[in-house]
Amino acid sequence: MEKEISQAVIRRIPRYYRYLGELIDDGVERISSNELSARMRVTASQIRQDLNNFGGFGQQGYGYNVKYLYDEIGNILGINQQHNIIVIGAGNLGQALANYVKFEKRGFVIIGLFDVNPALNGISVRGIKVRMMNELEAFVKKERVDIAALTMPKEKADETANMLVSLGINAIWNFAHLDLELPEHVVVENVHLSDSLMQLSYNIAKQRKRKE
Ligand code: NAI
Repeated sequence: MEKEISQAVIRRIPRYYRYLGELIDDGVERISSNELSARMRVTASQIRQDLNNFGGFGQQGYGYNVKYLYDEIGNILGINQQHNIIVIGAGNLGQALANYVKFEKRGFVIIGLFDVNPALNGISVRGIKVRMMNELEAFVKKERVDIAALTMPKEKADETANMLVSLGINAIWNFAHLDLELPEHVVVENVHLSDSLMQLSYNIAKQRKRKE
């Protein structure tokens, strides 16, 4: 059986992936944990510990093979395969997600936007058509949908998420400010930019106190 990797490590590895991608772009083939540590401002021992979870790709005194490590982490994160996404709520945030090209570089492809506002019916955001919610079921039956992003008001979010699950979608990228109540097998990733801002605010306060 594959070893279970802790969620704390899973939260950290996309950052490794990003840095390794930059190293590849810079033509770097090998890197030691000390060098990676200096770049990423993470202790070398943390890096070794994290990467050991994946069987330790490094060789003593030789460093990590950047491309190999990048590919392996990509495999672990499942980004060597395409994930099709639909976005529910084609307002400011939904359209901003659809406009962001680089998700596709990582295999996340937005294949449809859905809304209830007839004024948005048929408009296209970076070539992706906005459809009405009553077209959703037929769409999901025809297309493979791996992830639904919820960028709609929170009032209807739970009901909508459960409807998506009943259509066979088992992964929700939730931006609505609400804890969804879904069957256990469904994977949910909550994104709250305000949480991140509050963390920033806490750290600003801490920084001020240090200066006093
Ligand atoms: P918006 O008002 O521009 O867009 C919301 C869209 O959802 C509208 O086009 C509306 O017609 C549509 N909608 C309403 N009811 C719907 C339904 N039942 N099914 C499908 N679509 C429906 O709002 P914005 O700024 O794009 O925000 C969207 C949501 O995301 C809000 O709930 C907001 O609180 C949340 N949000 C979350 C952030 C986060 O970090 N998690 C950041 C910004 C917004």
